[in-house]
Amino acid sequence: MHQPLPRVQREVVSFVRRSSRMNPSQLKAWTDLQHWVVRVPARESSTSVAAEAEVDWAEVFGRRAPLVVELGGGTGDVIAAVAAAHPERDFIGFEVFEPAVASTLSKCARAGVGNVRMVVANGVDALGALIDDDSLTELWTFFPDPWPKKRHHKRRLVSTGFADLVADKLAPRGHWRLATDWAEYADAMHAALEAHPRLVNCHDGWAPRWQDRPVTGFEAKGRAAGRTIYDLCYRRREGGRP
Ligand SMILES: C[S@@+](CC[C@H](N)C(=O)[O-])C[C@H]1O[C@@H](n2cnc3c(N)ncnc32)[C@H](O)[C@@H]1O
Repeated sequence: MHQPLPRVQREVVSFVRRSSRMNPSQLKAWTDLQHWVVRVPARESSTSVAAEAEVDWAEVFGRRAPLVVELGGGTGDVIAAVAAAHPERDFIGFEVFEPAVASTLSKCARAGVGNVRMVVANGVDALGALIDDDSLTELWTFFPDPWPKKRHHKRRLVSTGFADLVADKLAPRGHWRLATDWAEYADAMHAALEAHPRLVNCHDGWAPRWQDRPVTGFEAKGRAAGRTIYDLCYRRREGGRP
């Protein structure tokens, strides 16, 4: 007799699956600069990361340096510029969208940086599996998808649960920098992070715009639409472990 297939529960993720078709310059960067892409084993979907996946970042970079992670960096304006300005640090980008990673690689090459590596994966999985606890100097989440409809709020990247993970990964006094042009999401981020027992606001309320952060396409679009840009910055409490 025909047995119905078991229903596979789809994971709630903060991104939309899009076509990975690339334009010719992205394709060229993708082909030429694969040595900057770190491959990791996946679980059931190609963007997932297996819990047992591991990367020795000191071996990948050939040194031990302060580590910075950007989650959802899009086409790489920030990571390429900041990595060029800080050759003494190493930068890891977690981004799910391959064409955006290709653009990031090409910006890094143009900026002449050798201290950036990219992982094409769900950054939440990647942060959990590939980054040691207490190890990050900084984590960045700039202009995460706002998911404005109430029924989609569960897809938002920044939440109390995600803050727990970030607090695990930051080094004591490590910084989490955030920005958004979505006022209601900014308020929700602020409320969740103010209430977090292991995070401390680096400022009184909103952070001043972080000067090192170049204006990305998303920020420019938000400004053009008349939206206010909200920056936030939190650091991990000194002891910081539950
Ligand atoms: C609105 S865009 C902002 C891009 C960039 N930060 C900027 O300011 O231009 C959000 C980006 O986050 C990526 N993204 C969303 N959720 C992600 C996740 N869980 N892991 C990795 N990348 C993610 C999307 O693919 C997209 O490129």
